[in-house]
Amino acid sequence: MSYLLSVTSSTRGDQSWSNRVLRAFLESFVAQHPDLDCRERATLEVPHLDLSAQRAGRIPVADQSPQEAAAFALAAELTGELEQASALVLATPMYNWGPPSSLKAWIDHIVNVQTFYRPSGLLHGLPVTCIVASGGFYSEGTNVAHDHLRPLLREIFSRIGVDDVAFIDCDPTGPMDRGLLDPNDPTSGFQRALAQVPAAASRRR
Ligand SMILES: Cc1cc2nc3c(=O)[nH]c(=O)nc-3n(C[C@H](O)[C@H](O)[C@H](O)COP(=O)(O)O)c2cc1C
Repeated sequence: MSYLLSVTSSTRGDQSWSNRVLRAFLESFVAQHPDLDCRERATLEVPHLDLSAQRAGRIPVADQSPQEAAAFALAAELTGELEQASALVLATPMYNWGPPSSLKAWIDHIVNVQTFYRPSGLLHGLPVTCIVASGGFYSEGTNVAHDHLRPLLREIFSRIGVDDVAFIDCDPTGPMDRGLLDPNDPTSGFQRALAQVPAAASRRR
C-alpha cells in the first residue's frame, strides 16, 4: 500500500504549531484518500552527514563498495521512502530565518547521487506540502525578504525534480504563544493555516 510521508521537525511536540496544523492535514488527507497509509519521519532523529556518508552520497549506487553502501544506507532509506511516497507533507518551524538544523540534516541526506547527481526521476509528480510556523510574520509583507526557509525548500525540491510544492503558512505564532491572540480567532495564523489544509491535502499521485 502506498502512503503519505509526513516529516516533522519541531522540538515542541503537541505544543508545536507546525505539528498542530500537521494533525489537521493528516485528518484531511486520510478522509480524502482512505486507501493510503501514513508514515512519519522525525528529523530530530536524523544525524548530520559524516565524512563517509558525504563521500558515498556522490558515488553511483552500482559502483559503491560494501563500505560505501553501508555509509550510504541511511540516505538510501530516506530517499527510498520519499521516492515511494504518494505525497509528502513536511512540518517545520523557522529557526533563525531558516530551517532547524535537523531538517537541514534530512535535506543533506536526500540530496544525493540518486536524486541529484544522477536523478532517478522518481520524484516527478510527487506533491509536496510544506507547513511553516514562525514566531513573526514572514509569509507576507516586508519580512518576506528575510525568509530564507521557503526559498531554500523551493530550491531543494526543484533541484531534485519535485514539480509540485505548496506552502501552508502558520504565522505569526508569537502572539498566540504569548496569549495575546486566541488561536480560534479567524484572523490568527493558526486559523488561516487550517483554511489552507483541505486543498493542499487533496493532492496525491
Ligand atoms: C532557536 C529558535 C529560533 C527561532 N528563530 C525564529 C526566526 O528567525 N523568526 C521567527 O519568526 N521566529 C523564530 N523562532 C520562533 C519559532 O519560529 C516559533 O516559535 C514557531 O512557532 C516554532 O514552530 P513550532 O511551533 O512548530 O515549534 C525561533 C524559535 C527558536 C526556538
